[in-house]
Amino acid sequence: MSPSRPRPLLLQLLLFLAALTLAAAETVLPSYHYGAPIRVECMNRSSETGEHIESPSTHEIQWIPFPTCAETSLPLEFHYGIETELNCTIPMISDPFFHLLEFYIHSDAPLSCRLPARPAPHIEVVGEEPPVQEYIPLVFALAGTLQLSHMHISTHMNVLLHSTPKHHIQPRDSGVLDSGTAYSTSPLTHMEGGATKRLVIGDPLPLSFSVRWFPTPALPRVEGKVEWSGMGGHIYASTVFYSIVSFMAGAVLSGVYFFGSVLPRRLRGRGMGGATPLGAMGVGNGWGYQKRAMD
Ligand SMILES: *[C@@H]1O[C@H](CO)[C@@H](O)[C@H](O)[C@H]1NC(C)=O
Ligand SMILES: *[C@@H]1O[C@H](CO)[C@@H](O)[C@H](O)[C@H]1NC(C)=O
Repeated sequence: MSPSRPRPLLLQLLLFLAALTLAAAETVLPSYHYGAPIRVECMNRSSETGEHIESPSTHEIQWIPFPTCAETSLPLEFHYGIETELNCTIPMISDPFFHLLEFYIHSDAPLSCRLPARPAPHIEVVGEEPPVQEYIPLVFALAGTLQLSHMHISTHMNVLLHSTPKHHIQPRDSGVLDSGTAYSTSPLTHMEGGATKRLVIGDPLPLSFSVRWFPTPALPRVEGKVEWSGMGGHIYASTVFYSIVSFMAGAVLSGVYFFGSVLPRRLRGRGMGGATPLGAMGVGNGWGYQKRAMD
């Protein structure tokens, strides 16, 4: 083989992909796989003042796990991309925790938590500083009413979590957290029952969460076309791309069919009558997807 001879296209493509993979392995930080657990941790606060607690040596804010849920015997966690209804009962509200709840409900101090934006890197390069773990804030806006001896808490919360935008190559793709929020629903009706708990010290606190995921920081628009059906079964930009490709392929094939087969046949004897083979062929293939929109 002479050195000037061009490489076959496929080989070139494979070499390019290999180079890309090597480059990516060196620089890219890890992202969450679909379903990967994401542990919630919250600011440790003084139950006397509601102020956050700093570690004495470094003066850094002390982050502690969200209280352990009776259902899982683990601190609260979400799973990347998984939309679910989730229960987390805090088995017993201690006296200090009861006072913290009073701060949260009055918003004297928010229930400030955080989520790691990415999973911790598990490969450490010798002689290199591991990359700094980044977090996104997640504030639980807990609603309720304080009484003299007890309190009412709206125990159902919506949790909205956003990924950073990326080109999704498949449903259930991996990703990185962008932002999130959590809030009690129906705070005005909690005195009439529903998802509410009359709480005294020593009681369990049954929290429930509706967790929803968004593939970008943008919110879904139904009338404005961008629709959302969760990260597990979403219509991704790539679907639209494939629709366009299949539409063009359909058009090309139809063209080939028309000029290669139909037209000669018609020219031969007009035997097709009123049938319109173009309509029967898949010219319109791409349009079956037109209601589905990009992220
Ligand atoms: C939170 O801070 C308090 C006061 O410094 C401390 O007693 C407690 O152990 C801390 N909580 C956790 C889970 O570390
Ligand atoms: C959560 O708790 C409610 C009330 O106890 C129960 O009806 C529901 O089935 C539970 N959901 C899950 C997913 O465990």
